[in-house]
Amino acid sequence: MSAERAPEGAASDATETASGAVPKHIAIIMDGNGRWAARKGLPRVAGHREGAEAVRRTLKAAVKAGVECLTLYAFSSENWRRSEEEVTDLKGLMRFYLERELDEIAKEGVRLDFIGDPSAFGPELWKKLQAAREQTKDNDRLRLVVALNYGSRAEIAGAARRLAEEVQAGTRNLQDIDEASLDLALQSRGLPELDLLIRTSGEIRLSNFLLWQAAYAELLFVDTLWPDFGEEEFNAAIADFQGRQRRFGGR
Ligand code: FPP
Repeated sequence: MSAERAPEGAASDATETASGAVPKHIAIIMDGNGRWAARKGLPRVAGHREGAEAVRRTLKAAVKAGVECLTLYAFSSENWRRSEEEVTDLKGLMRFYLERELDEIAKEGVRLDFIGDPSAFGPELWKKLQAAREQTKDNDRLRLVVALNYGSRAEIAGAARRLAEEVQAGTRNLQDIDEASLDLALQSRGLPELDLLIRTSGEIRLSNFLLWQAAYAELLFVDTLWPDFGEEEFNAAIADFQGRQRRFGGR
């Protein structure tokens, strides 16, 4: 999305830089909640609570900057290995955040969606998530995709299985299985191409997040712990992106 197409009143630092191109799709691995809490001598849940505030700030910054799509890694399929208490805290926080923020999110023109398998969080939360998706489905200012019980390898395996089933059923030719058809079988179908992937807290790995989608994305690893992330850090990330030369394998 170019600066000219940014919503009115969106003249943030990010849209005013010389190259002008605001990334259409930004994904974030929100990391460092636990360390943030430990540094303050607080329980891990306090870090997650502050992390939810960082989600609120970042979402506002993304709307203001004119980003089309923001994908957040909120719960990986490996996060079930955490203590039962922490998993319960995370589920509770998501419910609380949904209840408190949904109207505001809807009013801002945000369309909420999910990747992964959020049904694993139980019928009550799953129902609320589906209702939130339904309530916001016609919004078009920003698409917020929350990855819940998500793993990229499982997503790719699921897409391969779907295509194989179609071949088996005789509704698809084997020759039709290519990058484009696999892309369309992923849960991320219909989202803009991923431009920028950010991970906070100084860790330098993708942790099974958007492996296919990140093929040509710019990667940015910042030391800020997620609970300290906000508009300033978000706009700095966009400015960093705008300073990069993207060649997509060409010269
Ligand atoms: C990583 O920090 C963070 C998570 C596993 C959970 C992310 C959840 C939130 C930001 C809160 C709720 C989300 C929404 C969408 C409202 P970590 O616990 O791995 O931190 P550490 O590596 O320092 O231990």
